[in-house]
This record gives sequence, structure tokens and C-alpha cells, in this order.
Amino acid sequence: MHFRYALPWLSIQTVLAVSLPFADIDPSTQLNKRPLAYSEPHYPSPWMDPKAIGWEEAYEKAKAFVSQLTLLEKVNLTTGIGWGAEQCVGQTGAIPRLGLKSMCMQDAPLAIRGTDYNSVFPAGVTTAATFDRGLMYKRGYALGQEAKGKGVTVLLGPVAGPLGRAPEGGRNWEGFSTDPVLTGIAMAETIKGTQDAGVVACAKHFIGNEQEHFRQVGESQDYGYNISETLSSNIDDKTMHEMYLWPFVDAIRAGVGSFMCAYTQANNSYSCQNSKLLNNLLKQENGFQGFVMSDWQAHHSGVASAAAGLDMSMPGDTLFNSGRGYWGTNLTLAVLNGTVPQWRIDDMAMRIMAAFFKVGQTVEDQEPINFSFWTLDTYGPLHWAARKDYQQINWHVNVQGDHGSLIREIAARGTVLLKNAGSLPLKKPKFLAVIGEDAGPNPLGPNGCADNRCNNGTLGIGWGSGTGNFPYLVTPDQALQARAVQDGSRYESVLRNHAPTEIKALVSQQDATAIVFVNANSGEGFIEIDGNKGDRLNLTLWNEGDALVKNVSSWCNNTIVVLHTPGPVLLTEWYDNPNITAILWAGMPGQESGNSITDVLYGRVNPSGRTPFTWGATRESYGTDVLYEPNNGNEAPQLDYTEGVFIDYRHFDKANASVLYEFGFGLSYTTFEYSNLKIEKHQVGEYTPTTGQTEAAPTFGNFSESVEDYVFPAAEFPYVYQFIYPYLNSTDMSASSGDAQYGQTADEFLPPKANDGSAQPLLRSSGLHHPGGNPALYDIMYTVTADITNTGKVAGDEVPQLYVSLGGPEDPKVVLRGFDRLRVEPGEKVQFKAVLTRRDVSSWDTVKQDWVITEYAKKVYVGPSSRKLDLEEVLP
Ligand code: BGC
Ligand code: BGC
Repeated sequence: MHFRYALPWLSIQTVLAVSLPFADIDPSTQLNKRPLAYSEPHYPSPWMDPKAIGWEEAYEKAKAFVSQLTLLEKVNLTTGIGWGAEQCVGQTGAIPRLGLKSMCMQDAPLAIRGTDYNSVFPAGVTTAATFDRGLMYKRGYALGQEAKGKGVTVLLGPVAGPLGRAPEGGRNWEGFSTDPVLTGIAMAETIKGTQDAGVVACAKHFIGNEQEHFRQVGESQDYGYNISETLSSNIDDKTMHEMYLWPFVDAIRAGVGSFMCAYTQANNSYSCQNSKLLNNLLKQENGFQGFVMSDWQAHHSGVASAAAGLDMSMPGDTLFNSGRGYWGTNLTLAVLNGTVPQWRIDDMAMRIMAAFFKVGQTVEDQEPINFSFWTLDTYGPLHWAARKDYQQINWHVNVQGDHGSLIREIAARGTVLLKNAGSLPLKKPKFLAVIGEDAGPNPLGPNGCADNRCNNGTLGIGWGSGTGNFPYLVTPDQALQARAVQDGSRYESVLRNHAPTEIKALVSQQDATAIVFVNANSGEGFIEIDGNKGDRLNLTLWNEGDALVKNVSSWCNNTIVVLHTPGPVLLTEWYDNPNITAILWAGMPGQESGNSITDVLYGRVNPSGRTPFTWGATRESYGTDVLYEPNNGNEAPQLDYTEGVFIDYRHFDKANASVLYEFGFGLSYTTFEYSNLKIEKHQVGEYTPTTGQTEAAPTFGNFSESVEDYVFPAAEFPYVYQFIYPYLNSTDMSASSGDAQYGQTADEFLPPKANDGSAQPLLRSSGLHHPGGNPALYDIMYTVTADITNTGKVAGDEVPQLYVSLGGPEDPKVVLRGFDRLRVEPGEKVQFKAVLTRRDVSSWDTVKQDWVITEYAKKVYVGPSSRKLDLEEVLP
């Protein structure tokens, strides 16, 4: 058996890349012969804190449970049973002796993937556009309920990586916004919702998973790229803290039970064995108490990843269906021979069980898994990959509840009105002409393309693992026609982009109100659509959408454009055409698409969505892009985040560049006025760096040291082909490992302190017993209030936004720090209130390794978007 037992603690890539001569590398692609970015070692891996706030009870329950476990049982918790081994996209080993069933890990961020009778919610990006904490929570809760109803233990979302460094990034829509504060709030609300429903949430993909190209070696090779290691996201310490890490810290504070480390490397060390990321940032500095699982095939070593802070290997085999694991047998061996200390495997088991108990699950009342990710057939093999144990595997349980109405509401409230020259809201239009493929159905059916691997008909969601089967998909054509019929309007639609004769004949008729539906799409890297390998190749509309918009608007002087896209597209050539009387961004709305857009177009919902990213005039104007070609010979492609914290609006503001629609922008059918900004300063005292130390690493229970106890018990149950077990195949440990280097000791290849279980000093930026860092960071230093008056004729929601200028020469012009969504009746004045914590006014000091409030004068702004900052005041 292949055993990557002796893999160095930094990835091989780090070690080699720094010393490798570049002689073999094509000179046109070499990186100026400079040393590659480097990730510092941080050991030992922090163990759980029994007094961590919010985790105390879960810790006690986990302790009682884990203390009874054998070593094999602990290993079973940490290691997936292999790709396709049973029903879910990932499952752990069971502990039948104590009644614990195999835990089910299942995608994902907007639906329960691969099953039936589930809902398809709006994507993260549309949810973010609501700027509505309550809706974010409700969506998380509803997703949690559906997961629970299917027997899922861990729901593999929400997503804060990608954050959206490059607008072309394929999976940006699975996450929320390019702004870390908005994303962080959406993460926290989603997690609270999901976990309140009794399912463990998973904050993913940690971290720097900002593009699909080169995220996996095999996938890249299949596309014809000759690379031997995955992309390295090279992120400096300040950018890491102020941008990419920020929303993940909010996830920790919300009590998230699990994290998923990414496929990519960070600073040339694989995320799932990167001790800086997992030991230092996640568990030490930010006190994360749950467990870290690998992304699927993102696990690349045995002992090295255990020492670096990984707690669970998913789906458990080295490569799908290899029949071998870096852990499983090898982790059992590593503990038995002392290479992995008992406290580390105990800590893994503790973290997994604590997350399980924290969300209210119990060993006695686990929901049975009632679906199969691999098929919708009612009967099939339980052990899918092995084609073994034919039985009922799908119960087709309807878990949708009344979520349809919530989905409709989120998508309507997340629709952004970008332009309105007065054509909206519609009032019983005489003749409605709806144009475009994106208004109609996929002729193959809403689920006609597995994992949504096609772009036919209206775009409800993107493609990849972040999808689900639609229970139905209300198209814009269906919903608008129903409304037109009800109103007595004439209604005709042409659901093709390439029918100029028919379209012209229709929309050039007198009294036509034309609504053109267009889209662009993106998704996960394992699927390529039309040359787009996950990441978008460009920011233009698909299927000649631009030509369609231009044509229709040349024939009809009342043309309304609706966009279904994962992020920005270029509207530059036509957005200011006077014949285009309205533009709406409907994002990725999920199953109620048509109803949601109809609600907004007719004013049943007064639009108040805000764009969670900037609409630039050109692709280049964003200043960041996907790396599409390897740039380091056949070694790991290097993606340097040279722009630092300046992505999206931070970048456009710094460049003083004009944009089409700025971050936070969105119109309403009414108007609002802002007045009376007030800042109240609170007495919170000085920031106190944390001092002191942890307890020494505890162990729970003990384990047999006789090798005979670990041999596969062939008499008790049959061996399942390709299944990953914790057992040895004989009492010969070296032979069982199958590793030529078996016998190397930990100190021969692990870094100093990797196995040190003694009490460890606390970091000044960390919090004693406080997940999320030093608790003083969350002291409320200011309360900001302003008055918002509805100066129009209809009731509407307004989203006042609070921005701060941190004042330093290296700081962005403004950064979002708060927002609310307020209902305001015509003529009514309401108060907007938001708070600023110490973190909100601090910057990461790379020398102190802590947050500091700089000496620069700071300002507060309140307004309806990042560039319409109506009110401002110096921060006292
Ligand atoms: C994706 C994850 C997903 C996992 C399991 C991976 O390819 O990156 O987001 O949770 O597969 O489907
Ligand atoms: C885009 C492609 C996309 C295609 C789909 C084109 O405009 O350039 O990226 O695949 O539309 O029709």
C-alpha cells in the first residue's frame, strides 16, 4: 500500500521550488528567478479549549463519547470511507459498537445536491444582494431543515472562498460578495440558520480558492495543461487578515462546526497541510473549535497533514476509488508507532464529535440517510462504487416544506434595479413582448444537464457541485404570461436569441413593451461549457446576448433588460441607450425565478436589492483577473495577489476610475433622503493583548498496543472493495503500510514542536476562551445613527450603508462596515442604526501581529451606495 508517511511538513513544492534552478523552465514563463512565496511553519496543532464560549456543553458530551473509543473507532471518525462507498458525497466510518452511524457530508450552498423533492434556493450572490440578515438566516435555516430531512450530518456550505478576487472566477456565485464584511455577515447568518436546524455547517474553501484553473492537477492535465502541483495563491499577511480571512473569522464567531480546506496551495503549501493556515490562523489565532475536512482529493499526505491541523480526510481515498487512504490504516499505524501523538488523534475525534453535539445531534436520534447521491433509483447498491448490497437506497422524501415562498421572496428582494427611466413598475401593459432564451425553459428539462452542465433556457443557478435538482423551475415566460393574462394584456414571447426576423416583427409593433432576458454563466472547474473551464473566459453576455439587446432596443423604444449572471457583465455598449428604459440584475434566483422577477417588474415587490459587486466599463478596469495559463513551467502556477486589499470597489476607488454601477448601488420605485448623522462614542477601555497559556494537550481514553487488535476482522464482516478502513491487513506494520520509507521517526521529517503536547503560549491577537480572536476586537466603540425619509409615493425598503475611511495612505478610500434594510412608508422617517466595533476601525499590523487602530484621522459615511455617501462625519 502506498504510504505518504514521510512527506515533508511543508509541501514538496515549497522545498523544491525555492532551491530549484530554473534551467528546465521555458524562459517565456519563468517568474523572474525570484524565490517563490513561502508559508511559515506553525506547530503544534492547537487542541480544543474545554472552556471555549459556546462549545462548553458540546465539549463535555464529546469528551464522554470519545473517551470510550478505541483507536480504530477514532480513526474511523477522521477518515472518509471512499468515493462512492455509500450514499452521500462523503461519509465517515461508523461506530456501531456505540450506535453512531456513518456521518453524511453532502453538498451544498444552495440545495441538497443530487437528490429529489428538495428546493433550489437563490445562489449566495443573489442572497447577498438582499442586504437582509433576516433572509440570510431564514435561507440557512431552510437549507438546514432540508438537509436534516434527508439525513445529512454536515452540509458543505456556506462559501467565503472564493470571495471574488477576479470577476471571472467560476464559483463566485456560490459565495456572497467581493466585500468581506457583507460576506462575513452572510456567512454568520447562514451558519446560524443551518446549525439551528440541527445540521453542521461547513465554511469553505479555506482559503485563496479564487479561481478554478489549476485547482487540481488531474483536472488541469485532463484539460491539457502540463502542471505537477496545483495553483498557489500567494497572499500577504495584511491582505489575508483584512480581506480573505475576515469572513471566515465571522464564521468561527457564529460557531461553525466545520471548515473545508481548499484544493489550492497558499504561499506554496497545500491548504490541507498548511500549518500557517490551519494551526496558526484558524485554530490558534481565531480559536476555531470545530474540525477541518479536506476538499475532495485535496488531501496529499499522511502524518504531515495531521500535524498541520487537518482533522478529517474526505472522501477518504487518496484519489477517487484508489482503495487507499493517506489516513485510515495509515493513521492507525502512525498513532500505534508514535509518529502521531495520541493527543492529536484524540483532538481530531473531539472536534468532530463536538461539532456534531453542538448542533443538537445525538447518537440515539440520528436521522437515517434516506437518499443516494449517485442515483435517483429507488433500489440500488448501498456500496455504490463496489456495486454491493443491493437494497432500497432512495426514499424520495419531500423536504421542501413551504420554502418556495421564501425562495420567491429572497430572489425578488435580491433583484437589483440598475436603471429605470420610468417604464417600471409595469401597469397592465397593453402588449408585453418577452424575448430571449433566458426567459424560457431548458428543452431538456430543468434537470436535463447533470450538475447543470449546460446553459439552456433561463439561468436559475450556475454549474458544478454547488447545484441541486430543481423540483420545478418557474420560467420568466411562464410567470409573466400568467400575469399578463390576469391583467388582460396581450402577451407574446420569442424564446430564442437567433430569430431576428420574428423578433423584429414583434417588438417593432406599436405599444410593445419588450423585456429581453440575457445571461452569462460560470461554475466549477470539473465541467467545461463552451470553452469556459469553470472560470468565465470573458465578461460578455452569452449566446450573443449583446447583439440581442442592441437589436431589440433598435426596434423598440421601450426595452427592458433582465440579466441572469454570476457576477458583473459588460453593459458598456448599450446601458445608456435611451431606448433601454430599465435594466435589472436578477442574479441566480433559483426555482422561483419567473415569479420573483414578475413581482419586481410589476411592483408587488418594490426593488431594494443592492449590487454586491461593481459593474466596471471594461474587463481590464477590474485590475484583477484569472490566471489562465501556467506561469511556472510545469511547477505550481503562481497567482500573486499583488493588488493586496484592492479588489472590486476598493480598486476602482483607488484608481479613481468611473464605473457603470458601483458596489452597493440599486434603485427603488420610491426615493429616499438621508439626514442627521450622529456618532456616539462608547467608553470601552484599552485593547488588552491576550497573555497566558493553554492547558497541556489532553488525551481521552487509551488504546491497545497489541498489533493483533488492529488486523481486519474478516470473521466479523466481509471486506468491501475500495472501502477505506482503519484496519491493518496483517500484524506486520511495515507491510501493512506499504511504504518504502516506513520506519522513519517523526523527528526525522516533522518540524520542531509538531508533536509537542505541552502547554502553549496564547497569541496576543487570540482570545482566551473566545472563538474569533481577541474579544476586545468586538467591543462596540461607536453607535452611528442617521434618518432615512421616504420622499416618494410608495412604500419601499432602503438599504443604508455605513462606510469607514481608515485614513492611512495604504488604506482604501472607504470600506463597508455596516448596513441595514429598512421598511419606510411614503413620507415616513425612520432611524438607521449601526455599530462600529474595534475590529471595524482597526488595521492588521504585520509587525505586531495584531490589530491596531492607526493614528490616521478616520471618517464615517452613510449613504445608499459606496459612491453616494450622502452623510459624513469625522470619527471622534
Ligand atoms: C468541491 C466542494 C464540494 C466537494 C464535494 C469539490 O469538488 O470543491 O465544494 O463540497 O467537491 O462534492
Ligand atoms: C463568450 C463565451 C461563451 C459563449 C457562450 C461568448 O460570448 O465569449 O465565453 O462560452 O458566449 O455562447
